[in-house]
Amino acid sequence: MCGIVAYIGNKQAQPIVIKGLKRLEYRGYDSTGISIYNGSALHTLKTKGKVSDLEALIAQHPEQKATLALGHTRWATHGVPNDTNAHPQTSNSGNLVVVHNGIIENYASLKKELIHRGFTFSSDTDTEVLVNLIEDVQQQQGVKLGQAVQIALSQVIGAYAIVVFDRRKPNELVAARLGSPLAIGIGENEFFVASDATPFIEYTKEAIYLEEEHLAIIRVGKSIKIRKIKDDSLAEPYVEKLQMSLENIQKGGYDHFMLKEIFEQPKAIQDTLRGRLLSDEGVITLSSLREHDNRFLNAKRILIVACGTSWHAGLVAEYLLEDFTRIPVEVEYASEFRYRNPIIYPDDVVIAISQSGETADTIAAINIAKEKGAFIYGICNVVGSTISRITDTGCYTHAGPEIGVASTKAFTTQITVISLIGLYLGKANGTLSRSQYQEYLTELSTLPTKVEQILASQTFIEEVATSFKTAQNCIYLGRGYNFPVALEGALKLKEISYIHAEGYPAAEMKHGPIALIDKEMPVVVIATKKGYYDKVVSNIQEIKSREGRIIAIVSEGDTQVKALADYCLEIPDASEPFIPILSTIPLQLLSYYIAVQRGCNVDQPRNLAKSVTVE
Ligand code: G6P
Repeated sequence: MCGIVAYIGNKQAQPIVIKGLKRLEYRGYDSTGISIYNGSALHTLKTKGKVSDLEALIAQHPEQKATLALGHTRWATHGVPNDTNAHPQTSNSGNLVVVHNGIIENYASLKKELIHRGFTFSSDTDTEVLVNLIEDVQQQQGVKLGQAVQIALSQVIGAYAIVVFDRRKPNELVAARLGSPLAIGIGENEFFVASDATPFIEYTKEAIYLEEEHLAIIRVGKSIKIRKIKDDSLAEPYVEKLQMSLENIQKGGYDHFMLKEIFEQPKAIQDTLRGRLLSDEGVITLSSLREHDNRFLNAKRILIVACGTSWHAGLVAEYLLEDFTRIPVEVEYASEFRYRNPIIYPDDVVIAISQSGETADTIAAINIAKEKGAFIYGICNVVGSTISRITDTGCYTHAGPEIGVASTKAFTTQITVISLIGLYLGKANGTLSRSQYQEYLTELSTLPTKVEQILASQTFIEEVATSFKTAQNCIYLGRGYNFPVALEGALKLKEISYIHAEGYPAAEMKHGPIALIDKEMPVVVIATKKGYYDKVVSNIQEIKSREGRIIAIVSEGDTQVKALADYCLEIPDASEPFIPILSTIPLQLLSYYIAVQRGCNVDQPRNLAKSVTVE
């Protein structure tokens, strides 16, 4: 949460930082700011609102030519979103500015001490405490900026990614991280520091992903020096070649990133399968599994930890992995798991699922499981992310950058990876017969085309959305593999359209939600042919007799549900374990069009952020 962009080099810094902040708005967008150093003075402009509001503010001020700037887009933790609490935060002397992503947990005691020493504070933020703490170290100990930051950070409890600038050191930026990501782009005599690599992708393909508890001293004209915050020792920088392209992070003619990402799913699933599913040869090549298959095959249990949409993918995994491997699977909200003293055995396999690879609760859950000796497998989308680095092994989804806050292609590709894992293990431990395995393999390779077919019904789904856009509540029902899809459908609707929506296992309707059904209540029922069809049809009858309005997701050629439902959205038939990849697509489109028709900002829904790096 919160996006950081800083530039130091030979180009005009302000436009680079502003453009970079726009790319990072998915991380938070309630307030924003920029500090610019023009060679003699440091100018800071901050505002509540989005980066476009900051641009408007900048336009009201004299143009600044500067080759150094630090910017921030915020998701508030300490202090309401307003101009004062926005970052950069400035130290009392005006010499230092800091942009920060994370939470300083002991800020209250540090602040008290700083006030005692004569510091004053104008904001409610923990960041203003941090910048003054650094200044205090400088004043007390007379050390260089890098060392002052290192000493200050060693007093801090919490999580941070920070960039610090001292106007008395105009050729230098100091960046540090613990728990929140930072990437450093290395250009020709110029450096970029950002929460991810997207702000600098058109300038350089070389980047250093700063390691946990590392601090970088970045000087123009010189190389980067990296030190460990704990003991100030030097660390060797590891420069990576970025695979991402500018095209990946642009809307490409779509109105919103979310729509683009929904339509990217056939390719994204194909990319997930590429080189891993060799269906003609009957082979799945997942080196992460091959090298560690004894850990999986000897596991008495698989635990899955995740948050949000990734947790829903975990629920699908529970059905699929148990079906394919007969290994018991438990799925946990990472946020609950981390605080409830979980029982973890050394022979457990823990699968952590995360699009961003940066979710604070999932990271904490992994660390707990690691301490107890479990083997940790990560399923991440963002290459080089924290989770991909702290797990024992894992598998990328290769969905490409997901920028819309509501997760779409990450979900379907996570389930694709899980399908590969299930098939690999099911074959290896003999749960799946040869013929069953081969059938599933062949079918998996047909999914991208089936997703394409569903996407072709876009216009009809848009029409259906018109009938439901004024709803205030909505219920989603599904059974078996489609139960997690119902939860995911409801989450998509509530997060982007602000319509209250609940997902339920269809049979649970009788234990409460049925009381809500009247002619005002839309009920989305996933009623595909495979998967307790007759039972779901009975549930539809029950809704119908209470005058609920029904939108059903049905298999191609269905007639029975069509006779009952107000609207039917068809999907191609598939084996039950693969249905979630298909049945979720019309629900994504339905939510998207309802939100657009309600005038909501689908890519940046209120109060949300894509990467939740605070607990
Ligand atoms: C946020 C995002 C969701 C995402 C969840 C978990 O809430 O808005 O889209 O599912 O975090 O994130 P992760 O990156 O761990 O999958």
